[in-house]
Amino acid sequence: MKNIVLFASGSGSNVENIIHHFHDKPNVTIASVLTNKRDAKVLDRCNKLKVSGLYFNRAAFFETDCVLNILKSLQPDLIVLAGFLWKMPANLIENYPNKIVNIHPALLPKYGGKGMYGNHVHQAVKDNKEAETGITIHYVNKNYDEGAIIHQSKIEVSPEHSVTEIAQNVQALEYEHFPKVIEKLLSR
Ligand code: GAR
Repeated sequence: MKNIVLFASGSGSNVENIIHHFHDKPNVTIASVLTNKRDAKVLDRCNKLKVSGLYFNRAAFFETDCVLNILKSLQPDLIVLAGFLWKMPANLIENYPNKIVNIHPALLPKYGGKGMYGNHVHQAVKDNKEAETGITIHYVNKNYDEGAIIHQSKIEVSPEHSVTEIAQNVQALEYEHFPKVIEKLLSR
C-alpha cells in the first residue's frame, strides 16, 4: 500500500483529478489533503469526495513541527504539491528528501519563482509572445521552483490565444499527466 499526501492552497481541481485517478487503484491511498487556506475550495472538494482535509496556519507551518508531525503520522510515500503556494520549510524538505513533488504551470526554468503562479504565469507567457508553454513536474528543494525536473509537457501558444485559453490548455496538460507521473513515481 502506498500513501499520498496532497498540499493545495486554492481551488484544488488537480487534487480532485488525482483523487479520481487513484479511486479504483486499491494499492494507493490519498491519506489526506493539507491546506493553508481555511476557506479553500479544495476543502469542499475533500468533503464531497470523502477524503480527509486539514487546515494549518502560517505559524504552525513555519514556526513549529506541527505539520511535520502530522506528516509523520500519515507516513506518506509521496508528498504532492498541487497548487500549493507557500515555500516548503527546511524541516519538511530535510525529512522527505526526493519525496516532495510540485507541479508548475510553465516550462521551468522559465516563469518560475516567487509570485509566479496561476494567471501571472500565463500573462507573462502571452506578454513575452512565447511560441510554447506547458507544465513542469519537479522535486522540491530549498529554492522555489528549482528542484530536479521529473517531467515536462509542451503545447503551442499563438498570438490569438487569450490568457484564459492558455490557462485552460495548460490545465488540460496537468490533468492528463500529473496523476500518471505520480503513479510512476510510486511504483519505483
Ligand atoms: C495549477 O495550475 C498549478 O500548476 C499551479 O496552481 C494551479 C492550481 O490549480 N501551481 C503553481 O502556480 C505553483 N507555483 P488547482 O487548484 O485548480 O489545482
